[in-house]
Amino acid sequence: MRVLVIGGSGTIGSAVVEAFQELGDEVVAASRSSIPSVDITDTASLRSLFETAGAVDAVVTALGAAPSAHLTEATPEHFAAGFTSKLGGQIGAVLAGLPHIAENGSFTLTTGILAQHAIPGSNVTATVNSGLEGFVRRAALDLPNGVRINAVSPTIVLEPGQVVEAFRGFRSTTRAEVAQAYVRSAYGVETGQVFRVW
Ligand SMILES: NC(=O)c1ccc[n+]([C@@H]2O[C@H](COP(=O)([O-])OP(=O)(O)OC[C@H]3O[C@@H](n4cnc5c(N)ncnc54)[C@H](OP(=O)(O)O)[C@@H]3O)[C@@H](O)[C@H]2O)c1
Repeated sequence: MRVLVIGGSGTIGSAVVEAFQELGDEVVAASRSSIPSVDITDTASLRSLFETAGAVDAVVTALGAAPSAHLTEATPEHFAAGFTSKLGGQIGAVLAGLPHIAENGSFTLTTGILAQHAIPGSNVTATVNSGLEGFVRRAALDLPNGVRINAVSPTIVLEPGQVVEAFRGFRSTTRAEVAQAYVRSAYGVETGQVFRVW
């Protein structure tokens, strides 16, 4: 399989790269600082990445940010930033990748536990993640040529001994465990699903 991992140098993306490589897949990792480089907030940059990368069987997007703000302090700009980065960036990757993805290929996007559960200041992230999950459910109906689409929803990814106060009491996951959900999506037969790792 030929796999494009956008956000491939990140905490989750780098584990996804390793997981596919361990299966013998050819992996192209892309981010703003890689070669090939891409900025997912820029449509032309996304199109250029797919032209450079050539045919791919699986596309993973493991990136995108949404600002933290309590609703009483949130501005339209907070929401716009989340829409442009995590929501629009990953949707943009699907739109740019459609002409290049192989028959029976797959897209796997990244959402997160904050679509369903809350920590302080997580309004924008909840909205963005919920939008992504809606997009995946609906896009699965429209994709041509047997192409599938799923999302992975991780809980907080922690190293052993690491603590993030806002997630105290939440079940955490590891880079290796969350990476397997992307493998499941790319190698499986399911579409329109959100694979929760929590
Ligand atoms: N880590 C967690 O605990 C966790 C839990 C639940 C959900 N998530 C979600 O999982 C996704 C990945 O999280 P992460 O923790 O792995 O992030 P991360 O460690 O910050 O990595 C982000 C990756 O995306 C790239 N990137 C950032 N902005 C970009 C842009 N505009 N265009 C292209 N590449 C860009 C970065 O590389 P460059 O800087 O080189 O561009 C890097 O490869 C995010 O959507 C996050 O909300 C994470």
